[in-house]
Amino acid sequence: MNITDFKNPFRPGAGHMPPYLAGREKEREEFLRLLEQETILENLVLTGLRGVGKTVLLETFKPLAQERGWQWVGTDMSESTSISEEKIAERLITDLAVITSNWVVQSQTVQGMGFRPDVERRDYVLDYQSLRSIFNATPGLVSDKLKCVLEIVWQAMRSKKSGGIVFAYDEAQNLSDHAEKEQYPLSLLLDVFQSIQRKNIPFMLALTGLPTLFPKLVEARTYSERMFRVVFLDRLTPEQSREAIKKPIEKENCRVRFNDTSVNTVIQVSGGYPYFIQFICREVYDVWIQRMREGRQAAVPIAEICRKLDTDFFAGRWSRATDRQRDLMIVISTLPNCDTEFTIQEIVEQSKSGPEKPFRSSNVSLVLAALAEAGLIFKNRHGKYSFAVPLLGEFIKRQQENDNQPSLF
Ligand SMILES: Nc1ncnc2c1ncn2[C@@H]1O[C@H](COP(=O)(O)OP(=O)(O)OP(=O)(O)O)[C@@H](O)[C@H]1O
Ligand SMILES: [Mg+2]
Repeated sequence: MNITDFKNPFRPGAGHMPPYLAGREKEREEFLRLLEQETILENLVLTGLRGVGKTVLLETFKPLAQERGWQWVGTDMSESTSISEEKIAERLITDLAVITSNWVVQSQTVQGMGFRPDVERRDYVLDYQSLRSIFNATPGLVSDKLKCVLEIVWQAMRSKKSGGIVFAYDEAQNLSDHAEKEQYPLSLLLDVFQSIQRKNIPFMLALTGLPTLFPKLVEARTYSERMFRVVFLDRLTPEQSREAIKKPIEKENCRVRFNDTSVNTVIQVSGGYPYFIQFICREVYDVWIQRMREGRQAAVPIAEICRKLDTDFFAGRWSRATDRQRDLMIVISTLPNCDTEFTIQEIVEQSKSGPEKPFRSSNVSLVLAALAEAGLIFKNRHGKYSFAVPLLGEFIKRQQENDNQPSLF
């Protein structure tokens, strides 16, 4: 057999399903528990750092919900969706129409909901056009119109004895209100779901996004605290990491085998973060195939892989930061707790021992706010800060070491 017959199985890439999805049993159970609710009291927020596996896990929830009689709608929440109330309503209607477009409701039902059709008809097919005309013809605010659409959809579902609908939105940290334009799309979404859930309609939100998501929901509507079950995805344990590394190549026709030392090296360098596991394993696999072809001994070329990871993953994010922001992140990277959480005060103190001009706490707050906006830092519910990108501290330290190396010329 040719050693190239078995293709490299590892998938480093946003939203790419891994060859083996390791761990996540507790999170899955939590989601199944939410599906058991008769009246929806809790919705799902699935959150975690960049590349921790939110998108692919949400994707695996879809068949679980469908097997239990739920319908599933949703997409990525782009910033443009969150510009206005009208836009978010349009998003929901468009997504709903995908599943409702061949459902039929009697005109009595739509009339009963306050919608007055302009033409006399016996039945309505709930395609996009119908949903849109129900929306347009309903008097009141955007939220009233949207509620009416959702209630009519529910009426149609009830007669089909169908379960509820999961509205799954990825990248939901992009949702926001815009007080300056008097547009409150995020609050609208929360109000509408809270209101229909109070009427016992089983439509559940499953929002996925960076750790800024939940604080944003609470800021928009304090009742979000109670409305959501927050599931924080963390790095994989060493055992789960081991499975993520080994299972994809434990196939009969795969010639590459990682020994324990190699596996441990990958676990250590990746820190158990799924994206890094996929990235490193993909590189290791390719290098090994190459070396085996040349009849050479294969070992994990860790320095080369780290360099590639730095260029492919970190460098772009780093280069977009301003000098002042970088100075602050360099100070943070020297904190012993830079990989967990830190406070403004700790940064101020640490900056006093650095080579640059020390930071004052008002400056630190400002720069941290800008870094949060850029998706590099987030503030948790207890007012402490963390890097939003895993292992960023390590990368910064590597950069510093390179910069401090004496130049040959
Ligand atoms: N449980 C897992 N086991 C193995 N690999 C995983 C696991 N979860 C995710 N991955 C891999 O990690 C990478 C990142 O996954 P994903 O895009 O779902 O992360 P994310 O949290 O949505 O990232 P982002 O914050 O950038 O949207 C992908 O290459 C995916 O295949
Ligand atoms: Mg994602």
